[in-house]
Amino acid sequence: MDQKPLQTMGQQSGRRSWAEPWKIKMVEPLQVISRDQREQALREAGYNTFLLKSDDVYIDLLTDSGTGAMSDRQWAGIMLGDEAYAGSRNFYHLEAAIQNYYGYRHVVPAHQGRGAEHLISLAAIQPGQFVPGNMYFTTTRLHQELAGGTFVDVIIDQAHDAQDLHPFKGNIDLAKLEQLVKEQGADKIAYVSMAGTVNMAGGQPVSMENVKAVRALCDHYGIRLFLDATRMVENAFFIQEREPGFADKSIAQILKEFCGYTDGAWMSGKKDNLVNIGGWLAVNDDTLFEELRNLVIVYEGLHTYGGMAGRDMEAMAIGIAESVQDEHVRSRIGQVRYLGDLLIQWQIPIVLPVGGHAVFLDARGFYPHIPQDEFPAQTLVAELYRDSGIRAMERGIVSAGRDEHTGEQHYPRLELARLTIPRRVYTQAHMDVVAESVRAVYEIRAQTRGLKMVFEPKYLRFFQARFEPL
Ligand SMILES: Cc1ncc(COP(=O)(O)O)c(C=O)c1O
Repeated sequence: MDQKPLQTMGQQSGRRSWAEPWKIKMVEPLQVISRDQREQALREAGYNTFLLKSDDVYIDLLTDSGTGAMSDRQWAGIMLGDEAYAGSRNFYHLEAAIQNYYGYRHVVPAHQGRGAEHLISLAAIQPGQFVPGNMYFTTTRLHQELAGGTFVDVIIDQAHDAQDLHPFKGNIDLAKLEQLVKEQGADKIAYVSMAGTVNMAGGQPVSMENVKAVRALCDHYGIRLFLDATRMVENAFFIQEREPGFADKSIAQILKEFCGYTDGAWMSGKKDNLVNIGGWLAVNDDTLFEELRNLVIVYEGLHTYGGMAGRDMEAMAIGIAESVQDEHVRSRIGQVRYLGDLLIQWQIPIVLPVGGHAVFLDARGFYPHIPQDEFPAQTLVAELYRDSGIRAMERGIVSAGRDEHTGEQHYPRLELARLTIPRRVYTQAHMDVVAESVRAVYEIRAQTRGLKMVFEPKYLRFFQARFEPL
């Protein structure tokens, strides 16, 4: 029998191979349950991958949030936890790391991103104000709405088109933003809410040119600009790679320069910062800081722990320094890209260009015969689990939820299933297994049917909604 010559990963793409810039010191065994068991698990979970038990999952690509592997340095830091109620030395390490790498003056710790979103929304939004931003994020928008604000999407149009190849699909459309300011008046704008990278658009970045221009517009009208810095390190990588003038700058330099155009940031440390739990807020303004420092005590914990243990803060301080290393970011995004490139080569519809933290499958491209109210992306994640035990997440109509005033469903143009890659956890071989499962599900797409929702929670329904096959 003829055997095809084997090719390394690099040879397949006509270049030298790269490898992860770490080696493995401890392993966590994985198991795959049988197809019949997966079928049953899916039924019991109401076809919602958030309701699966993780023991029933093989490769877990639900999220990159808190699912990364910490380094030996971070684990050593855990042992140095100072669990004093007040003034823990680990808080001061964390504060110094944020000031050093992100450049803001004041730091408020929080238990995770949504804790920080809650505080900034309470402190910076007056009921009746508008919050323009580059596409909504689920928890961010909900906190803005609960504080009495109305989110307005001012991202560029290209972001809503899965196939558009714009290099900075996360950019804010300045004309849309200015129109809103002129229509409503600057005093009705709470702040501009900018995320780098934009999760719901497919992990798409914002350019340095864009943040500079938004800053200038905000200065002109006297409006504050706050950043969702959750994946801002990954955003800095795309600036280094794609924006003229940044190729010779380090990720750390680009990160600090970008943050320098903003008045503050909130953070889910569970992503870029390489920890399993934690978050923070950082601002430059003294008065706003005092307000946040007061609010954190009510909702999160004292202003020197904010819901985190001392050891968690130490791990995050170390994680921040590791997260900005160029080698780390290159290999992290390289792994995401490797998976994306395989799928592109097999002509499977995904969001282009491949973003920072995930490959987003375009469920409209998979299932043109399934209408959006029969939940194509939810169907796709259920199919993937059934095929191989791989867990992904819906990012389409279920995640978009309902209009807070009319109760009507939002119908987002993007109907996506997200394969989110945890940091430093899986190898290239896992990516191959994932790609082959996606292909298997794509091959049977014509006979796949949609779902109906049989239970809908009031808030953030995607986490707990239940479905049945049609
Ligand atoms: C862009 C973005 N902002 C905020 C959050 C909320 O962070 P957390 O899950 O830590 O509450 C997330 C989490 O996925 C996110 O992706």
